[in-house]
Amino acid sequence: MTKTETFQDLVLEPRKDGQEIWRWLYTELRSAIIDGRLKSGARLPSTRNLATQYGLARGTVVAAFQQLQAEGFISSEVSAGTFVVPASEWEIPSPAKQGSSRQILSGATISKRTQSLIKTAFFLPASHSIGKAFRGYEPAIDLFPVELWARIAARVYRKAPRSLYGQGDTGGYPPLRRAIAEYVGHSRGVRCSAEQIIVTSGAQQALDLLARVLLDPGDEVWMEDPGYPGASQAFQSTGASVIPIPVDGDGIDVAAAIKSSPAACMVYVTPANQFPLGTVMSAERRVELLSWAARAGAWIIEDEYDAEYRYSGKPIASLHSLDRSESVIYVGTFTKMLFNALRIGFIVVPERLVEAFRITRSFIDRHAPTLDQAVLTEFINEGHFGHHIRKMRQLYSDRSQLLTEEANRRLSGLLDVENAQSGMRTVAWIKTRITEVALTQRAKQLGLEVVPLSSYVSKYEQKPALTLGFAGCNVSEIKRGVAVLEAILSR
Ligand SMILES: Cc1ncc(COP(=O)(O)O)c(C=O)c1O
Repeated sequence: MTKTETFQDLVLEPRKDGQEIWRWLYTELRSAIIDGRLKSGARLPSTRNLATQYGLARGTVVAAFQQLQAEGFISSEVSAGTFVVPASEWEIPSPAKQGSSRQILSGATISKRTQSLIKTAFFLPASHSIGKAFRGYEPAIDLFPVELWARIAARVYRKAPRSLYGQGDTGGYPPLRRAIAEYVGHSRGVRCSAEQIIVTSGAQQALDLLARVLLDPGDEVWMEDPGYPGASQAFQSTGASVIPIPVDGDGIDVAAAIKSSPAACMVYVTPANQFPLGTVMSAERRVELLSWAARAGAWIIEDEYDAEYRYSGKPIASLHSLDRSESVIYVGTFTKMLFNALRIGFIVVPERLVEAFRITRSFIDRHAPTLDQAVLTEFINEGHFGHHIRKMRQLYSDRSQLLTEEANRRLSGLLDVENAQSGMRTVAWIKTRITEVALTQRAKQLGLEVVPLSSYVSKYEQKPALTLGFAGCNVSEIKRGVAVLEAILSR
């Protein structure tokens, strides 16, 4: 095809079988404009002349012109005629065509809320190794019974009715919801029906879902300080205001919270094992918090991300089990109890909220993958889950003890490592003049994963400390980790 300035020289390709005539004409003219055979400013014949020239109905030509005009390729001026619009007005900048030096980026932006959230974002990197000292967010993945899991998965995938390969239930796979209701009932004293369980993609999605369903922009949420940043981020992403509340030896300071944010409509807490300090909320504080929530008509979000791991004393009852006003919404997760990549968690919601949660879930990702839920259900119902938890509880208790012993032996006067009574990590108070930042950087250079306590602080400063995970770290790594910290701190 030759370049042409005028319509007269333009050659149109023949119409394809079955193609509507107006669409053929529109497509031909559009291609001629885009590839420059019809140049900017070229005048098109009148619809009447064009119709006569090609033996078409005039309405057909008008339809093609209207489409081209709607898309900005041509413009008509009364009495002057119809013209091809300059390419600069309709061309989409193509980086490949223009070269990176002349790349024109669209002015489209991300929301202000996201811009501010990503400045403080806390997110976990993908794992390329396991067992490392002192990673705190992974259980002992190397000891997870993968052969057993694979056998159950193979059986479930083969034998599942074909309907399980279709659309699933937004609240979760019903047999899993029954198994979870039973488990939280006997293990955590959470009395609920299977319908009240909403299966989520881990605890993080549970927090996001809670924020979407329960919060409006400007609502105030009390948040433990120090606390879990993933929760503040989920709440802030809805435009809610997160109010940091200090934590003392009894847990979140309810009196201080009422003073600084009397109109709050929600509080987020980790009563069984405060994240990251590891304190247990006292009985008095629980009663105080529950009565405030009942009086204020506020929600309490109880995050029991690792409550199964308690190494001494009696098991701590959940707040949910003490609640008489349906104020507490309970969040749990299998990512810390089994393995991170499983991405299955759950929320226990009051009956009156079930529908709101199911509908909200349906416009996010519909539901958790049904077949994975079915595998987990079998794993629980056949007793492997209970067995694994008991085994891990003993293992993590041993690892926590090893960390304490190693620290007592090598870090005395340098780093005061707390003897963890629960959970997967502990706090190590810095006793030398080195700053948290300097110690963290040096430790990272030497292959350790440590998080300064200040990363979890919003407003109420803490003494300098590191948080050290131990549950997922193997024995040699714990020993190596302590030796590395000694080498840095005793310089
Ligand atoms: C306190 C707390 N809540 C929730 C989560 C999120 O858990 P999940 O990995 O199941 O989304 C974490 C993860 O580390 C956590 O530490």
